[in-house]
Amino acid sequence: MFQIVERKQWNEAVVQMKLQAPLIAKKVLPGQFIIFRLDEFAERVPLTVADYDREAGTITLIFQIVGNSTRRFAALQAGDSIQDLVGPLGKATEIPDDAKSVCVIGGGVGCAIAYPQAKYLHEKGISVDTIAGFRNKDIVILEDEFCACSDNFYLCTDDGSYGTKGFVTNVLQEMLDQGKHYDVVIAIGPVPMMKFVCQVTKPYELLTLVSLNPIMVDGTGMCGGCRVTVGGEIRYACVDGPDFDGHQVDFEELMHRNSTYRDQEQHECRLKKVGEV
Ligand code: NAD
Ligand code: FES
Repeated sequence: MFQIVERKQWNEAVVQMKLQAPLIAKKVLPGQFIIFRLDEFAERVPLTVADYDREAGTITLIFQIVGNSTRRFAALQAGDSIQDLVGPLGKATEIPDDAKSVCVIGGGVGCAIAYPQAKYLHEKGISVDTIAGFRNKDIVILEDEFCACSDNFYLCTDDGSYGTKGFVTNVLQEMLDQGKHYDVVIAIGPVPMMKFVCQVTKPYELLTLVSLNPIMVDGTGMCGGCRVTVGGEIRYACVDGPDFDGHQVDFEELMHRNSTYRDQEQHECRLKKVGEV
């Protein structure tokens, strides 16, 4: 069993859990994920690790309530435990050894995964600019944390209620137009966001890493559920990724595959809400 040591509710839909998981905390690196299972009958859900404390033996997960499992997880409190945590899974993010300047881009709840990237690179002495985008002021997360590990921090909202008005892609385009140079861009967020970030960076031939979130089952390369096409080849996000060169990713296929069970998931959620099952 894995005990929750701290719970934080960022907003109605986004919850942060710090869990005691010393073996995972000892090894995990930015980009890697875990699979949790609430109890022995529950589904397996992958979540990328948002933070870790090797000394305290804890990992932090920040997730959006999107389905039945995340709703049940979000209902737990500090002191409660969950059945399984498997990890760290996947490959840690790799950037070229000579990279000196990185732009980390987080979209919405994807900022939870962009944050450990910015923190890790900053601690390694690499110059980090962060762009974080949210739909509006009410759902901003990790602002102080990003400020602490970014040389420059740019926050934007779609409706202009906080920070610059616009998408992360608008801010990035403006910075590149002004002559800002980066060795690498790391973009994590909704699939359309990652796709359009790649369209912005492509003309500059600017290496752009994206963290893919396809449907996963086993997380060990055996079920094929997380199949993605990268550079015309089949890759498995759980073992070959989750990070890939965004300029090589077939985003249309990813979006199509990710929508496979959307109706069933929403249906299940509605039933649980009204207590019909
Ligand atoms: P959202 O839809 O509110 O978007 C967040 C920000 O991304 C926006 O404010 C905007 O700046 C940018 N963005 C969104 N669409 C864009 C577009 N078409 N062009 C340019 N920029 C765009 O995000 P949300 O609801 O907080 O995030 C939920 C999504 O993020 C889910 O689909 C979830 O699966 C995904 N997600 C992905 C990862 C990952 O590993 N890639 C991690 C967590 C969440
Ligand atoms: Fe099964 Fe990746 S989740 S192969």
